[in-house]
Amino acid sequence: MYKIAVIPGDGTGPEVTAEALKVLNAASLKFGFKYESKSFDFGGERYKRTGETLPDGALEELRTFDAILLGAIGHPDVPPGILEKGILLRARFELDQYINLRPVRLYPGVETPLKDKGPDDIDYCVIRENTGDQYTGVGGVTMKGTPHEVAIQTAVYNRHQVDRCLRYAFEYARKYGKKARGRGDNNTLALVGKTNVLTFLYDLWERAFHEMGEREFPDIRREYYHVDATCMWMVKNPEWFDVLVTGNMFGDIITDLGAITQGGMGLAAGGNINPEGVSMFEPIGGSAPKYTGKGVINPLAAICAASMMLETIGEQEAAGAIERAVKHVTANRLKGMEAGRMGCSTSEVGDMVSQHVTDQ
Ligand code: IPM
Ligand code: MN
Repeated sequence: MYKIAVIPGDGTGPEVTAEALKVLNAASLKFGFKYESKSFDFGGERYKRTGETLPDGALEELRTFDAILLGAIGHPDVPPGILEKGILLRARFELDQYINLRPVRLYPGVETPLKDKGPDDIDYCVIRENTGDQYTGVGGVTMKGTPHEVAIQTAVYNRHQVDRCLRYAFEYARKYGKKARGRGDNNTLALVGKTNVLTFLYDLWERAFHEMGEREFPDIRREYYHVDATCMWMVKNPEWFDVLVTGNMFGDIITDLGAITQGGMGLAAGGNINPEGVSMFEPIGGSAPKYTGKGVINPLAAICAASMMLETIGEQEAAGAIERAVKHVTANRLKGMEAGRMGCSTSEVGDMVSQHVTDQ
């Protein structure tokens, strides 16, 4: 019996989470695993009511679950940063979810803004370190509001953080790389950095990368790309990529670019993973306030997040079935992927995916 914590969150979060749970239920009936879920009301509404983001004790309770499924965090009436830092980033940090796994995968039938590229070309994965960099909050401000205001927000990494992220990335490349998927001669791990300017930070990453690769993963080909060039190749030659690993800030930025190449935020899912602890899965798009409550938002990213969750907790068969069902739906059943352009409602998409999971 799996214990799943559900944080539907703000805006369209609850709508897409409901569809993910619908599909999860269909998969559990079909594949015979059992779970119980408990919903938590963390988010903008609760904050407005009580002033609490993640209340005391919530993290301790979350630690007792097998996984967390999150909808979206962000509320138009709450100033930026409060909910993001207080809920999303706090959970990532305190639960030490040091990997942010973000596949960039174009599903069949989905339109990409990249000219002449198809599902065979856009099929890679970004492993974003999830605890360090400018996200640590190291820094400060002085003389605020004066013409001499100074603001510092430092990118911070230690060798331990870098090594554990790289080890996960190498292992991931070994297990899920292109060769492992029957699509290439080599599994390749590419480090994305900025060694020409961030000569302390990405020098650490680069040395750790080659030392570990040489010693422990000689079967994995190693490549290095500067982050600016990576953005260019993600648009021009995404087929070059297999598994990419990078720091928290670059990873944040390039995965939005990746998401739009795979058809938009309605399709991009991610996992905040602690390989030794509790992981949290989420559609990477935001709370989309303007579409809230209309039943027009695309729930496929949330459904894919549920599939990643099953994969991580050990229900590979069910995860694969959901992924196939999503592909079936994108290829045959939806007119478009954007909110309001799908040709059906949010809940109908959930129904179609569930049906296909059941029928396989
Ligand atoms: C993401 C988001 C978050 C991040 C924000 C909401 C704090 O952009 O998950 O990519 O920067 O990590
Ligand atoms: Mn982001």
